[in-house]
Amino acid sequence: MFLTRDEEAILNGERGCGAQRAMELLVAIGTVYEAECLLPIRSAHLSGVSYKTIGEGGLDFLADMASDARVAVRTTLNPAGMDLARWEEMGVSKRFADRQLEIIDSYSKMGVETNCTCTPYLAGNLPRKGDTVAWAESSALSYVNSIVGARTNREGGPGALAASILGKTPAYGLHLDSNRKPTVVIEAEIGGGVLDYALLGQVVGKKVANAVPYFRKIRPNPDEAKTLAAAMAASGSVAMFHIEGMTPEANDADLKGLERIGVGRKDLTDARESLSTGREPDLIALGCPHLSEAEVRELASMLKGRSKKTEIDVWFCTSKAMMERCPREVEVLERFGRVLCDTCMVVAPIEDHYSCTATNSAKACNYLPTLCSQKVVCASAAELMEMVT
Ligand code: F3S
Repeated sequence: MFLTRDEEAILNGERGCGAQRAMELLVAIGTVYEAECLLPIRSAHLSGVSYKTIGEGGLDFLADMASDARVAVRTTLNPAGMDLARWEEMGVSKRFADRQLEIIDSYSKMGVETNCTCTPYLAGNLPRKGDTVAWAESSALSYVNSIVGARTNREGGPGALAASILGKTPAYGLHLDSNRKPTVVIEAEIGGGVLDYALLGQVVGKKVANAVPYFRKIRPNPDEAKTLAAAMAASGSVAMFHIEGMTPEANDADLKGLERIGVGRKDLTDARESLSTGREPDLIALGCPHLSEAEVRELASMLKGRSKKTEIDVWFCTSKAMMERCPREVEVLERFGRVLCDTCMVVAPIEDHYSCTATNSAKACNYLPTLCSQKVVCASAAELMEMVT
């Protein structure tokens, strides 16, 4: 990979150890993927935040990096293992909380914004069409590639951190036009609503793995698109998709000769059944990916005038920005459960208190059994709210 003189100097340690380590990592990635050079980025979004997922090794690595590295571009952070303010109410131990706060402190020292959310594009970090960025968080990066028209690879936590420190990323994968073109056509005959789109993503991700699907006959709203992106990234590893009439690059797509796959109601029903491994939830969790302002308002309007008639805990996971935008709706939701920021049902240590979680997110349904030892109930938001009222 070609490096400028300045980049060579960083690699030789002339700008400090943190920058040197970051450059070593980008050079290693760029060499593996045969990138020609580094591209400047406008923003980064980092995963690898929850103490539950990165543990002591990650905590030490970040503390080390924070001793002399600073980010060079706007950088936001994925959910942590707890609401940074309400962790005691979540039943998180002091030991876990202390370590989680150390991780946040390290990111903060490096200049990373510490409002932890997996929908940074709804909370101020919205790339523009054509921007080159380095984002981790599979749902968010797929959303900005596919709906916004920005360009990012499916970064891991360390790669995204290295890119944010240097303000650059290797030119390969989805940064190149040739890799953004559709490789399979999906003819989808589905209804609508977040759960249908979650299940559509579940089915398509399983069928196409890491291909670039081109959807015909669907017109998701932004919330449906975000759950579609999340599901395909979890059941497969889709990082870029096209929706006819919606994706900025879809108009230029050449579909001649591509395989066509049909997805209908029966596929969604089968997917829901295969994801549902439990019956009696002790936690109902919404907000994977984090609830948007529209979703917070819709849930509040579903619940207005009703009262809670069960002991089941309910979590509404969202970002601080969404909470601040709808204080009255948050008050309504708080009568039924907790509106939590900075965290989610997958990266928090829910297995310490719960064994069966109900959710409308196919992404969460994929990860809850493995990362949180949960049985899962897959249901729509309306059905979930019926369970508690
Ligand atoms: Fe976000 Fe957690 Fe789901 S990070 S996409 S709410 S697994």
